[in-house]
Amino acid sequence: MSQQKLHGVWSNSWIFVLAATGSAVGLGNIWKFPYMTGENGGGAFVLVYLFCIALIGLPVMMAEVLLGRRGRMSPVNSMKYLVEEGGLHGAWTSIGWMGVFAGLCIMSFYSVVAGWALNYVFTTGSGSFNGATADQVGTIWGGLLGDKLTLTFWHTVFSVMTCVVVALGVTRGLGAVARYMMPFLILALLVLLGYGFVEGNMTAGLKFLFNPDFSKLFFKYVQSDASGNVIVCAGDISNCERQLNYEPTLKALGHAFFTLSLGMGAIMAYGAYMPDHSNVARTVVTIGILDTVIALIAGMAIFAIVFANPSVSPSGGPGLMFQSLPIAFGNMPAGQVFGTLFFMLVTVAAWSSAVSLIEPGVAWLVESKNYSRALATTLLGGAAWFMGIFALLSFNALADWTPVYLLNKTPFDFLDFLTSQLMLPLGGLFIAIFVGWKMSKAIVASEMDAEGHPMFDIWLFVLKFVSPVLVAAVFVVAIYDTIAGFVSSL
Ligand code: TRP
Repeated sequence: MSQQKLHGVWSNSWIFVLAATGSAVGLGNIWKFPYMTGENGGGAFVLVYLFCIALIGLPVMMAEVLLGRRGRMSPVNSMKYLVEEGGLHGAWTSIGWMGVFAGLCIMSFYSVVAGWALNYVFTTGSGSFNGATADQVGTIWGGLLGDKLTLTFWHTVFSVMTCVVVALGVTRGLGAVARYMMPFLILALLVLLGYGFVEGNMTAGLKFLFNPDFSKLFFKYVQSDASGNVIVCAGDISNCERQLNYEPTLKALGHAFFTLSLGMGAIMAYGAYMPDHSNVARTVVTIGILDTVIALIAGMAIFAIVFANPSVSPSGGPGLMFQSLPIAFGNMPAGQVFGTLFFMLVTVAAWSSAVSLIEPGVAWLVESKNYSRALATTLLGGAAWFMGIFALLSFNALADWTPVYLLNKTPFDFLDFLTSQLMLPLGGLFIAIFVGWKMSKAIVASEMDAEGHPMFDIWLFVLKFVSPVLVAAVFVVAIYDTIAGFVSSL
């Protein structure tokens, strides 16, 4: 296959940084990271997450950018080209295919959550949170989750917004969105952080986030209750049995991929527009630092508010941000204006991320099937929208529908699990093996523009031996534990 070069190259690497940061910084940072930390015990989870970003996320991200820039096409066709160039087995192109599918699955529930944020722009704007207590905020939140029609409306609005940008083409406008939004978003988070310091319980928040309790990380303590059911011990663990608990580690690993937009071709698709002369490693580290800092600031702001309001639980799940932040907005000077602005920024951050979820599939349909961008976007965006309906019904009509074939999860939880904890790490594993072991070292070195540089050798070593081994190890433990649990339940 020849490289068709259907699209141009961005004029400088700064635009790549902006677009990739726009993709990376989104609901994963502001919504998902805090609630996952809350559900998985705090500091120890944060530490494993940071570890995953450094040893797996960043090295794999460099590899993914490199694949895109070398291929210069949609992820599917870039992989085809690289497979041909290296004379490799065609199965490697599944990295591209799996990514298209994973992107649509993520988009389906991502759009639902972004819809919540959009709805909150208006709830906050109309003053509903003014002076509200934690309980009043909880009631408003519960009301929204139960309202299928309202949820569908905002899910649809967000899907359409995303499709419009994708249909126009990501080179147009996206850089501008990231350039103007990002500074404002950081500023808004800093103001919230300031509120947390003054009015919240920042000491408890910081302790929760940064004081790791490893006893909870790799193990859980269980006992049998009177009727013989196995329950997790709360508080006193003296009579409990210690069991392996791989879940927080798997979740931290999965989230490292999710928050960096890694493992499904989004970053590959953007890498395809990156100029030849720009430095992949430096660019990726910049994006990684920005993404991590934004997640940590959001976490600090949210937990300072959570710990000042006993009726909000840190382990409250997906509703955490929507239940904690309105308390701050409702009770701070100019909170109505500021809260409205904040949820607008969150929506825009989600918007610039969502675009990268359907772009790989759209780019492939346009290149290979000669579809117009509008048609390709409508087809794929429509498919994701449809799946999203099941995701939003998970909070009301289908709340108790947790069939075995969805692994006893609601559709929302299943889609999240399937993508974050399975498909993205698996995609990342294959990318690491492909670049580390299968591609010619000369090509990799010339793309990284760092031949003979000690950092290049360190990176390649990590990519070959550290990142894939860590991902594989977490998978092996998870699979072993699942099978062992199944066998002992027989
Ligand atoms: N990284 C985004 C966030 O943190 C979500 C996202 C956008 C994503 N594109 C992706 C996640 C591709 C995985 C793969 O909100």
